[in-house]
Amino acid sequence: MSGLLDPLLPIVRLLPPETAHRATISALTFRNTPRALAPDPASLRIRLWNRDFPNPIGLAAGFDKNAEVPDAMLGYAFGFVETGTVTPRPQPGNPKPRLFRLSEDRALINRLGFNNEGLDAVRARLARRRGRGGIVGANIGKNKDSKDATADYVAGVAALAPLADYLVVNVSSPNTPGLRDLQRKAILLALISALQGARAKAAPSDPPPLLLKIAPDLAQDERQEIAEAALETGIDGLVISNTTVARPPTLKSPLAREAGGLSGPPLFAPSTALVADMHRRTGGRVPIVGVGGVSSAADAYAKIRAGASLVQLYTALVYEGPGLIERIKRELAGMLARDGHASIAAAVGASSPA
Ligand SMILES: Cc1cc2nc3c(=O)[nH]c(=O)nc-3n(C[C@H](O)[C@H](O)[C@H](O)COP(=O)(O)O)c2cc1C
Repeated sequence: MSGLLDPLLPIVRLLPPETAHRATISALTFRNTPRALAPDPASLRIRLWNRDFPNPIGLAAGFDKNAEVPDAMLGYAFGFVETGTVTPRPQPGNPKPRLFRLSEDRALINRLGFNNEGLDAVRARLARRRGRGGIVGANIGKNKDSKDATADYVAGVAALAPLADYLVVNVSSPNTPGLRDLQRKAILLALISALQGARAKAAPSDPPPLLLKIAPDLAQDERQEIAEAALETGIDGLVISNTTVARPPTLKSPLAREAGGLSGPPLFAPSTALVADMHRRTGGRVPIVGVGGVSSAADAYAKIRAGASLVQLYTALVYEGPGLIERIKRELAGMLARDGHASIAAAVGASSPA
């Protein structure tokens, strides 16, 4: 069942990337109802923030920006799905073309610029699926023309804290001017405490965990400031990482010079190294969601061993199709057993002690 869309992939790949994505989302809306799945191996279960993840493999932000198909994606056996990035008001994003397939590198470059339908639309969709089960997070951002970034993120938390299983504060997209400057310590301290206040007000009985998503292109001092801000604010987790503005010299595709954020295998090594580094800098006290270039069980396992408690992917789904998720889970359970780990939790940070 999970490979239902796989046979369509060769056809979808003939379309321009953004048209292909829209067609995929439209097709998925027809299967956006909860479905019974075979249970995951017990070793893949992980409990974090008072929530039980059936497995640690999640769908990264940006695939389902408007929360149109979270249940369809949970139906492909993801352990959790992150919707967004959503901004307070709808916005069109950057001029097209703005999404490029670097097929030779199995990578993507995007400069979408937070095209999305806005908080009201996303809130309504998440409200409609309330009570369905499955872990669905929401990633929030700011409007491009907003004068007050904090107010935008506060609006996101206020609207979605009662509905999302977790919230991610995205301060790391390379496609919104000035956004990544929010990763400095003084700004983070003020922003995170404002958001924690908004969360307490919006969802006092079961406040969702609040995570911060960071860029892979950070200097040493910036990494240290984020680690300190994370520990001082008691933020619930870090999502590491967003796409990169770097262009490794190994890229083969002629599209490599397009502006925007690069994702897929070329991002794997730097984003995994950043997981290990931030795990060490935070003494293993801040749970990490490892994302960037995961396209196999070995990649997912490497993120976990570097310090990630959960893993996400997006780009590999475009090249491999959703059958990839079952494959990764099966092989990951085998790798845990081979190494004598009874659970994901036992393997977290095994290769980079905090
Ligand atoms: C087309 C596209 C759109 C994305 N949009 C978002 C977004 O809206 N918000 C966000 O936090 N990350 C976004 N991302 C980044 C992914 O969530 C992820 O961090 C990154 O792609 C690395 O993972 P991957 O190599 O598995 O794709 C986007 C990525 C792609 C390819």
